[in-house]
Order: sequence, then C-alpha cells, then structure tokens
Amino acid sequence: MSKSAEAALGELFAAAKAAQANAYAPYSRFKVGAALRAASGAVYSGCNVENAAYPQGSCAEAGAIAAMALAGERRIAEILVVGDGDALCTPCGGCRQRIREFADRSSAIHIAGPEGVRRTFTLAELLPESFGPDHLPV
Ligand code: THU
Repeated sequence: MSKSAEAALGELFAAAKAAQANAYAPYSRFKVGAALRAASGAVYSGCNVENAAYPQGSCAEAGAIAAMALAGERRIAEILVVGDGDALCTPCGGCRQRIREFADRSSAIHIAGPEGVRRTFTLAELLPESFGPDHLPV
C-alpha cells in the first residue's frame, strides 16, 4: 500500500474508533464505529445507537451514511467498520444494502478490530448480485 493510501486508511480508522467510543449500546454491550470517505475526500462517521424498543436501534454504518447525506454528499469511496471481539465485525445485511445505495461494486469495505484493519472486502463480495438504484427506471 502507498504511503498516502496508508495515511488515508489510518484517518478512517481513527475516525471510526472515535465514533465507537461514543456508541450507545447498553443492551448488546457491543459498540461499533464506522467511518466513510466520500467522493470529496471528507470523512463522515457514525456509531450504533440502541433503543429499549430493540428494533428501533440503528447501526454505526447507518449513522455515517446519514452524516454524509446531511453534508450533501452522495458517493461512498470506501468505508471502515470497527468492533471489538475476535470475529470480523462485518456489516449486517441491511447495512450492506444501505452502502450499496451510494457505493460502487468495487468500493472497499474495511473491517477492523481494536488493533487495526483485519480484512478488506469489496461491496460485491459482501453483497453479490445486488439490487440498486441502477435497476430502477427513474
Ligand atoms: N452493529 C453495527 O452497528 N454495525 C455492524 O456492522 C454490526 C452490528 C450493531 C447493532 C447493535 O447495536 C450491535 O451492533 C449488536 O448487534
């Protein structure tokens, strides 16, 4: 990886870790942070926010995407998700579809643990043969 790509990934990791620290996860006790780089190069982050009415909780990725949209941006260049534990903190099915709305099939989804990035997938690997905006005649 080039020095600048490494620095860019480091910036995403730092933003996701900072978001994770503010996660509201009193029920699962599983704090997640996400940070994405939009087309402009700006970074937007989010954390999971749970709710006593469990299904109303939202994922870290959803928060980061909402922050991006609020800023007027519409393209995800890459996204990083960080969670604790040994298992890879890959996005849930719903969040894969949320990412699909704004990313290319080749966009990188980096999965990190507390120590750093563990694996990098493309969106197409995590959500093959997906349905997206390009399928609709609008
Ligand atoms: N969670 C995320 O925020 N993102 C993921 O990629 C996986 C799961 C959250 C949802 C819930 O608040 C907690 O982690 C446990 O599922």
